[in-house]
Amino acid sequence: MNLLLLGSGGRESALAWKISQSPLVDKLFIAPGNGGTGAFGENVAISPLDFKAVSDFIAANAIDMLVVGNEDPLVAGIADFFRDTRPELLVVGPVKAGAMLEGSKDFAKQFMVENNIPTARYRSFTLDTIEEGYRFLEELRPPYVLKADGLAAGKGVLIVDTIDEARRELKEMLSGMFGASSATVVIEEFLKGIECSVFVLTDGHGGYRILPVAKDYKRIGEGDTGLNTGGMGAVSPVPFANDEFMAKVEERIVKPTVNGLINRGIDYRGFIFLGLINVEGEPMVIEYNVRMGDPETEAVMLRVASDLVPLLAAAAKGDLGDMPLEIDPRTAVTVMLVSGGYPGSYPKGKVITGTDAVGDTILFHAGTARNEAGELVTSGGRVIAASSYGTDIPSALARSFEAAKTVDFEGKYFRRDIGLDLMK
Ligand code: AMP
Ligand code: GLY
Repeated sequence: MNLLLLGSGGRESALAWKISQSPLVDKLFIAPGNGGTGAFGENVAISPLDFKAVSDFIAANAIDMLVVGNEDPLVAGIADFFRDTRPELLVVGPVKAGAMLEGSKDFAKQFMVENNIPTARYRSFTLDTIEEGYRFLEELRPPYVLKADGLAAGKGVLIVDTIDEARRELKEMLSGMFGASSATVVIEEFLKGIECSVFVLTDGHGGYRILPVAKDYKRIGEGDTGLNTGGMGAVSPVPFANDEFMAKVEERIVKPTVNGLINRGIDYRGFIFLGLINVEGEPMVIEYNVRMGDPETEAVMLRVASDLVPLLAAAAKGDLGDMPLEIDPRTAVTVMLVSGGYPGSYPKGKVITGTDAVGDTILFHAGTARNEAGELVTSGGRVIAASSYGTDIPSALARSFEAAKTVDFEGKYFRRDIGLDLMK
């Protein structure tokens, strides 16, 4: 079959790597892809948000299955568009009503409450109800968590220590700090614990598979210090997410989420990303996303032993049946190489060397491109994810660390401590 994968990040590189290994695939296209995805398929210069161009490409290239990597096209309704215009196309990714789990934090919180899914206590406010917002803040203890309702490129969550700051930020958010995205603000109780990410592939009819659990590292600095980034690395599995914890996740979160979507009449065929926090052994939901995580996917794909393509096709057809999802027992650790200055401003166009001398480590490109001379160059903040297997976190990290030293470009930076906090 022929597949089209939408997106251009490290996540899409990892999905393309895995998909391209399937004997079922004749041709794989990635739109728009990046400087590395061409190794697994053919890059196509189309924006995932240009549904008409995507549709024309699908028709011209006899595409059987569309896999949507990033959330923007899903929130914009790409699955609905193809359901209405091309019903025979298999689509991995939820319809717009399902994408609201990520597109609106207020909707996600209502959904969790409605389905008894453990999450932080919350209320939502608009400029009209700001006085009630101030009163709700008085009921909470510091720190205070304020979230813009809509998509804000991962920047819409503020955690502040004092009530004065919380009041100030609430007012700023409601007055347009994140444009229309913060016209509604969710204020919630702060939860203390370690986070992890669980990914579920669901077929919209009650069938689901739980993928390997991962943890990502968001802060720029070692020891989880400094500014938040898109993610500096990831590990899978996560030692604290043991069988007992995962059984609670499945019973209290996965099943009620899958069933809650069905009860709302939402035909959700695709990935559900559960951003969880372990509060003294009890899993609680911090957020939903409607796609795989980045950089978690760059670790998780190494641990999916089964062919992913039949699973994706079965989910898109609405019937996962009893198709197995085999998991590789090894540990995977991903280290992200980033441009100097990231997550602030950084230069682009730096020539990247050493990518062919990394042994068994797999390099998933994120912000890379080819310049006019055909050289591989940096084109983003997160440049390349180095993913390795090991028998445990330190051995996998050591391999990714070696690769991170070998691959080089001016200003390169990476964290050397990915996963080591979990060894304590
Ligand atoms: P989000 O954009 O929803 O992923 O939130 C960004 C980050 O804020 C999360 O990954 C958590 O680290 C943190 N966070 C969000 N909500 C809470 C909460 N209720 N308690 C503690 N930390 C939170
Ligand atoms: N790694 C977190 C995310 O993809 O949103």
